[in-house]
Amino acid sequence: MSRVKLLDKEFELSIPEEKLLKAVDQVAEQMNVELADKNPLMVCVLNGSFMFASDLMKRLNFPCEISFVKLSSYAGTGSTGQVKELIGLNENLEGRTVVLLEDIVDTGLTIINTVDQVKQMGPEDVKVATMLFKPDACKRDVKLDYVGMEIPNDFIVGYGLDYDGYGRNLKDIYTVVE
Ligand code: PRP
Repeated sequence: MSRVKLLDKEFELSIPEEKLLKAVDQVAEQMNVELADKNPLMVCVLNGSFMFASDLMKRLNFPCEISFVKLSSYAGTGSTGQVKELIGLNENLEGRTVVLLEDIVDTGLTIINTVDQVKQMGPEDVKVATMLFKPDACKRDVKLDYVGMEIPNDFIVGYGLDYDGYGRNLKDIYTVVE
C-alpha cells in the first residue's frame, strides 16, 4: 500500500515498518545496556506512543514496569505556553528512574512540560525516549536520551500518529501529499 486516503487528505508511504523496527531495535539495545540495573518505570504518553511502547517493551531484557498517562487537552498557561496536565501517573516515583516514551517530539513543547511535571513528583532521574524527532521544528532546548530516528518537518501519520484521529493503525509511516 503505497498511498492511503484519510478523511480529505492523501498520504504516501515514507518510512516502511522494517525501517521503523530497526530503529526500535537500536533504542532497545541502548536501553538494555544503560538501564539494566535501574529498575525503571517506563511511562507511555498516550495516545500516539502506544505502538512504539509496545514494540520497544518486547525488546527490553531487564526488569522494568510500564504505566500509561494522558495529557489533558488544556489546563492553563505557563511560561512555555499552554500547559497540559499529566493524568494517570499514580505510582510513587521517589527514587525511581522514569523513562518517558513519546511517539514524536515536534516543537518540543509537550515533552518539556511533561518532564517538568514528572520531576515535581520526586523521581531520581527522568529520561526521554522518542521514536521520531523533527529537529527542524524543535526550536527548544530538549534533552532527548533515546531517539529512534530524525525526520523532516512534514505532516505524517501511521505507527501511532494520527490525522484527526485516523491512521494510527497503519504499520508504516506515511507523509501527506501536498
Ligand atoms: C503529539 C505527540 C506528542 C506531541 C508532540 O501528541 O504524541 O505528544 O504531539 O508535539 P510537540 O513536540 O509539538 O509538543 P498529540 O497532542 O497530537 O496527542 P496524541 O498523542 O493523542 O495524538
